[in-house]
Amino acid sequence: MQDIVAYLEQNRGRFEQELFELLAISSVSADPSHASDVQRAAQWVASHLKALGFNTQLIPTEGHPLVYAESEPVPGAPTVLVYGHYDVQPPDPLDEWVTPPFEPAVRDGYVYARGATDDKGQMFTHFKSAEAWLRVRSGLPVQLKFLIEGEEEVGSTSIEKYLKEHARSLACDVIVISDSSQFAPGLPAITYGLRGIAYFELRLQGPKRDLHSGTFGGAVMNPLNALTRILNGLIDSKGRIQIPGFYDDVVPLAADERAMWASLPFDEEAYKRELGVTALAGEEGYSTLERSWARPTFDINGIWGGYQGKGSKTVLPARAGAKFSFRLVPNQDPKKIAQQLRRYIAELCPEGVRWELIEMHGGYPYVAPLQSPYFKAASRAIEAGFGRQPVMIREGGSIPIVTLFRQQLGVDSLLLGWGQHDDNTHSPNERFSLEDFHRGILSSAHLWLELSRCSS
Ligand code: BES
Ligand code: ZN
Repeated sequence: MQDIVAYLEQNRGRFEQELFELLAISSVSADPSHASDVQRAAQWVASHLKALGFNTQLIPTEGHPLVYAESEPVPGAPTVLVYGHYDVQPPDPLDEWVTPPFEPAVRDGYVYARGATDDKGQMFTHFKSAEAWLRVRSGLPVQLKFLIEGEEEVGSTSIEKYLKEHARSLACDVIVISDSSQFAPGLPAITYGLRGIAYFELRLQGPKRDLHSGTFGGAVMNPLNALTRILNGLIDSKGRIQIPGFYDDVVPLAADERAMWASLPFDEEAYKRELGVTALAGEEGYSTLERSWARPTFDINGIWGGYQGKGSKTVLPARAGAKFSFRLVPNQDPKKIAQQLRRYIAELCPEGVRWELIEMHGGYPYVAPLQSPYFKAASRAIEAGFGRQPVMIREGGSIPIVTLFRQQLGVDSLLLGWGQHDDNTHSPNERFSLEDFHRGILSSAHLWLELSRCSS
């Protein structure tokens, strides 16, 4: 690997500059006013892969474009599908960014920008490792197929359809995704499980106009009161979700898995300090790692209604609403959860307000078997890149396509996260350590070789 390692060393600066170019594109998939920026990011990704020598397609969809690229087949070696996403979360609140979200800036060895770690920076490591093999050697030791989407942060709708229609051309032996985290600084990880998600918007309509809360309060149902009553009914003070049937399909945590996680070096005090909270919260009877990796949860993501301006206003608002989501664990099904929720809201919602529940998106939970030879190959590659053997973890976030890959292609994913928990994903001042970026590239370069030794 010396020649490849030398190439990576020599090109560190250029790799960073190229990443910064991609980070400067404001590809916010949730916001229609950024549609052309999302398009630009897709084009950037496609031209980049094309210039590396991949057979590349920019695929329009009903939503944001997909990019597909493949290298030559390598007889006798496995085919590896690399998935990533070029879309990013909205950058708000803007005034909390030290430097603007789409003007990448380097401070203390980190690049700060929306998408730095989630997922542009992590995804790009696989582009650069492929480049090294293609430029230094005559070709890659495995066939690579890149499938890059622009709707991951909004529920992966278009790629799901594409996957169903193109399962044959996407055929592969293993999938590689870098869109997760290391366990801690200096302690890399392979993630073998993710939570699923069911995301909703609830809209309540009370009287046909805003009312004086003195004249009408007490006689007319206030939609904000109704909303908080409903939301409050969804979870109890012990962190148990109250929707009838919600836990029916939950696979209980296995004792050996709990023991494995309990042995990880997790410092609860440091965790609290880093987040600025005085106490941790969650479902009774479970540790913090268990709560965030393997137990279902309910979070309100946004709530509105009534008067939010300066001073006070005695108003009984006509409307109220909330966006909220459940994280799901094996074997919960987001569609089933939606039905159960709908029935339960019908029970909880007081008379005098009308309600509408919008099912925004859903994703299935995922747990991979740990025995595959691909895991061992990935572990060796990470050790080569990070100087330390990775630990096996689950994480609480969701990458909906992972379960769909298994269903449609029959293939499991290697979730190799190069990020850190304090990278501020989905928050202001998102960042990615440039050291981790380069270690990720090095691991990825080793990964293609290690995977080539697994017979296909
Ligand atoms: N990179 C994350 C997923 C992730 C987060 C994996 C934390 C492991 C740990 C991904 O980009 C993401 O944020 N996904 C969304 C999916 C949702 C919008 C369907 C998520 O988890 O909220
Ligand atoms: Zn994300």
